[in-house]
Amino acid sequence: QIQISSKNVLPPDVLTRVSEYVPEIVEFVRQVVSNGFGYESSGSVYFDTVKFDSGPQHSYGKLVPEAVGDQKALQEGEGDLSISADRLSEKKSPNDFALWKASKPGEPSWDSPWGKGRPGWHIECSAMAGSVLGESMDIHGGGFDLRFPHHDNELAQSEAFFQNDYWVRYFLHTGHLTIAGCKMSKSLKNFITIKDALAKNTARQLRLAFLMHSWKDTLDYSSNTMESAVQYEKFLNEFFLNVKDILRAPSDITGQFEKWEAAETELNDSFSDRKCAVHAALCDNVDTRGAVEEMRLLVGMSNGYIAGRKGAKRRPNRMLVESIALYLTGMLKVFGAIEGSEPIGFPVGGQSQSADLESTVMPYLTVLSDFREGVRKIAREQKVTELLQLCDVVRDDTLPELGVRLEDHEGLPTVVKMVDKETLLKEKEEKKQMAKLAKMKLPAGEMFRSDTDKYSKFDETGFPTHDVEGKELSKGQAKKLRKLFEAQEKLHSEYLQRSHHED
Ligand SMILES: *[C@@H]1O[C@H](CO)[C@@H](O)[C@H](O)[C@H]1NC(C)=O
Ligand SMILES: [Zn+2]
Repeated sequence: QIQISSKNVLPPDVLTRVSEYVPEIVEFVRQVVSNGFGYESSGSVYFDTVKFDSGPQHSYGKLVPEAVGDQKALQEGEGDLSISADRLSEKKSPNDFALWKASKPGEPSWDSPWGKGRPGWHIECSAMAGSVLGESMDIHGGGFDLRFPHHDNELAQSEAFFQNDYWVRYFLHTGHLTIAGCKMSKSLKNFITIKDALAKNTARQLRLAFLMHSWKDTLDYSSNTMESAVQYEKFLNEFFLNVKDILRAPSDITGQFEKWEAAETELNDSFSDRKCAVHAALCDNVDTRGAVEEMRLLVGMSNGYIAGRKGAKRRPNRMLVESIALYLTGMLKVFGAIEGSEPIGFPVGGQSQSADLESTVMPYLTVLSDFREGVRKIAREQKVTELLQLCDVVRDDTLPELGVRLEDHEGLPTVVKMVDKETLLKEKEEKKQMAKLAKMKLPAGEMFRSDTDKYSKFDETGFPTHDVEGKELSKGQAKKLRKLFEAQEKLHSEYLQRSHHED
């Protein structure tokens, strides 16, 4: 059972298996022979490349003309069977390739007008694609390495069968996938399955990594590649969350009417430039890499605009940021990087939870956040430290456990964001590490120096000797401080040792 839908990959209409198409293949070969482009020899059937190339309608080796006659490429494509002395003597030209191969006793075989045998390599694709899609297809995909001889031979025999010169309108030959710079191979043990990759990253992050590369170039799957995709996703996600927060702010009656100033006009101009650039990139050989770069620029500009408005204590223009977020979400839906029907941003709550978790709980979170802001304001005015600490605990411990991030911005309303829990817990851990590091960096001699509201004099090591009123510290006080001082000395020397090692 192929699991496709959860990765947001469209399922194919038809999947084919060669062993079910042997009658079609035999018929295909028979028709090529009767059209004059194939000949039987010792129970095998070969394609007559010279005859094909001499006709006015056809040319052999359309995709990689310079490879025609390249015996090494032929050998890789056909296997030794095709160019061994025996086989060469069966062929009119060394470039001719097998449509049907006689089977030796014991080899798998099917009956045919030429005796027991099996299909040549290229014929499988021509017969299967031809019987499903008919005499022409718009796009034929495949890896870059399949251009010659495989696709050139497929093209030639199919044109010979259908008597046309348009069996494939366009080929899209994708670049190779390498793993940390090396070709993927079982012997190098750097073989990775989609399942392995999905254990490390989400389907969306993989998709973004693909979008951030040109489809026709080599894609290197490495931690660096995936890290850029994760960062890109994060960058866009923060933007969407900020916009949703802006749109949630209570709108007064005049809220819909926001006068445009230079900043809005400028952003709108950049918006339409970026839209054109995304379109142009996609028209240029489906350059998704260019398109997602333009989208990144648009987010950067919008972030700059939002920060500028907030700096000026003004509300960002909602209709404008909303249009930008809608546009970006729409593009990500086109790319398959956003599934579901939410108008703005990535679905909240991951794939396991209901998609509209955000719209369900946000009204309650907003009440909580507003209430907390009110409490903090009073606690600050009345200097009730315990209350302020409680408010911090809600922000730093309680809500992150539930996948909610509160961002306090001085003098501005608190921003509420729903982020997945793992991300938040990781952020919390990083913050803790940073705080610890900052503390370790501080030499003991510096730790009391800035407390000039408590001490007025220090000895040469930076240890306080007199309190703020100029009175000498009591033995008891000094003993307490000494303990802290020594603890910091120890911590700092650990830091020095550690950074020494890192050098
Ligand atoms: C904003 O940009 C769009 C093009 O994206 C343009 O059609 C529209 O007139 C612009 N709006 C204003 C008010 O300049
Ligand atoms: Zn093929």
